[in-house]
Amino acid sequence: MTGKFITFEGVEGCGKSTQMEEAYRFLAGKKIPIVATREPGGTTIGNEIRNILLNRAHHGMQALTELLLYLAARAQHVKEVIRPALEAGKIVLCDRFHDSTLAYQGYGRGIDMDTISKLNALATDGIVPDLTFLLDIDVEEGLERARQRSAQMSAGTHRVGARLDRFEEDTLEFHRRIRAGYLTLAMQDPRRYVLIPAAGTPDDVRSRVLETLGRFLKEHYERL
Ligand code: TMP
Repeated sequence: MTGKFITFEGVEGCGKSTQMEEAYRFLAGKKIPIVATREPGGTTIGNEIRNILLNRAHHGMQALTELLLYLAARAQHVKEVIRPALEAGKIVLCDRFHDSTLAYQGYGRGIDMDTISKLNALATDGIVPDLTFLLDIDVEEGLERARQRSAQMSAGTHRVGARLDRFEEDTLEFHRRIRAGYLTLAMQDPRRYVLIPAAGTPDDVRSRVLETLGRFLKEHYERL
């Protein structure tokens, strides 16, 4: 495969989606063919699975059901979008990928990590990101940002009050385990992960993301 696969990870409200948009603009300016996508989602089937996963009414969802739904969405996403784009030589930017499953379902929900890794390998068809940005933020600050975003979205749709998704409603302890889990994953694989403190202004975070991307391009694309 000739393309490159770049993922953005972090806890709720860490700003990864905003930073991925910045990365997209930066790469588009260099005339590199890019696909921007997200998990869960990225395909029609994946988006339907996303709605099931995030629906607040589904508070009775079992951890194993949740895991298998994320993996089902991923299997579809890899086959339909990610692998074809990489084979066509594109850069794929993805908002969350298999590290989210290790962090949320593994460290967060307590499902056995080896089981997750084996199932993940099946769903990803062996595809591993070339570069992963971990945007790290204190979970209370991140959740506050996520709440504000939800409130704005509710206002936009004339709904009253902040409507959080199923995960944003989980306990602080759950989110703390996820953050610590991400930091462990980053420590275990420092060549792939770039840890970006995300508490600063979007502009500070942006310059660190773009600096790393610039270095990555120099390493992998001779003409740039
Ligand atoms: P988002 O809010 O970043 O779009 O992500 C949707 C939610 O899904 C978020 O709370 C993290 C969660 N998630 C998992 O629990 N496991 C996964 O494998 C993925 C991709 C996301």
